Amino acid sequence: MNLAETLKEKVLIEYPDNKEYLDNTNNILNYLDKNLETVLDAYRLDLADGTNRHTKMMISNHYAGNRRQKNQLRLQTELWMHEEIFNLFCKSNSFNSVEQLHLDSLFDLWKVTFENDSADHSYLDTLTLNRTSYSKFEKTDLDQITKTQILNAANGITPSLASNYHYRVDVLPANVKEAMQPYMHGTFEGITQETKDAFEKNWLAKSMDEWRNEGICFNHQFHAPLVLAYSMPVPTDGSHRTWKQHEFPTSKDATFIALGTNMWNVICKVEELGLNSCCLKAYNPKALEQIDVQTDETMPEGWKWEPFIFLCIGKGIDAKGDHRKYKPNGIVNSLNFQVK
Ligand SMILES: Cc1cc2nc3c(=O)[nH]c(=O)nc-3n(C[C@H](O)[C@H](O)[C@H](O)COP(=O)(O)O)c2cc1C
Repeated sequence: MNLAETLKEKVLIEYPDNKEYLDNTNNILNYLDKNLETVLDAYRLDLADGTNRHTKMMISNHYAGNRRQKNQLRLQTELWMHEEIFNLFCKSNSFNSVEQLHLDSLFDLWKVTFENDSADHSYLDTLTLNRTSYSKFEKTDLDQITKTQILNAANGITPSLASNYHYRVDVLPANVKEAMQPYMHGTFEGITQETKDAFEKNWLAKSMDEWRNEGICFNHQFHAPLVLAYSMPVPTDGSHRTWKQHEFPTSKDATFIALGTNMWNVICKVEELGLNSCCLKAYNPKALEQIDVQTDETMPEGWKWEPFIFLCIGKGIDAKGDHRKYKPNGIVNSLNFQVK
């Protein structure tokens, strides 16, 4: 009997013929069908690489956004299954003691996460593994204290760029959001120019579902109760030329990176406050034509502020579907650096 069959037999002994919603026998068997091979793969890959990244990623499939994903299985049942999977996996292979120690530490990660004992997971670990971008948010406005805490996190703490920040973070006013709304969409591959034109001409002509079927990708996150605009200087002549050092001392590249780091700082704060977020960069340039940005600062001749990217914040309702794709290849140490 192979491992999957043995496990199924164990399920049938432990949870025979349960038709109730919680711990339904069929649900448990489906869970095994769906997850067994990837759980085992993660153990194998981590063992081969000497890492725990694959197992952590696998766990986060079941524990996204700091919440268990399977509420029709009791916590103890899910954990029991992982214990059974792990024990059978170890029994059916002859691992040496070093390998066994490594595997034990991997299984412990399941236990730690499921029993919610954060002692072994640093705050940052939990955040980076489990944070999820949301596409839809509750409409309820955020209270002033929460907003202030978020804005404090955005207020140029680090990296400091020697105080030469060439980006700004602003709460987008409701009337500005409304004016931009018709242009805050992206497009799916294969959309026709006809659809693009028709949408721009009268976006109210069809329902959202109809437009989506024709290739319009709505950024629902723009409806979040708090939208922060991250702005950077752009030339007033409409060219995309970069700036000179006498105009703005920090380079544009460094400014981009600092802006991204600032966003992550804000994203961390938002999560700490029990809220969620989503970045928004894919919009029609016409959105910016609807608005004007004023400042009291003296700008170098020929430059003005313009939003570059938006961070949409609120209590998430629907997570973005592409978040928890298993990414076994990773991006760390994948390049081969050599001396010429
Ligand atoms: C810089 C940046 C810009 C993004 N812009 C958009 C966007 O315009 N529309 C959108 O639906 N998602 C946008 N996203 C979200 C990503 O498409 C993706 O869904 C998300 O990052 C999934 O992974 P996460 O949950 O780990 O963030 C953006 C993400 C980043 C980092």
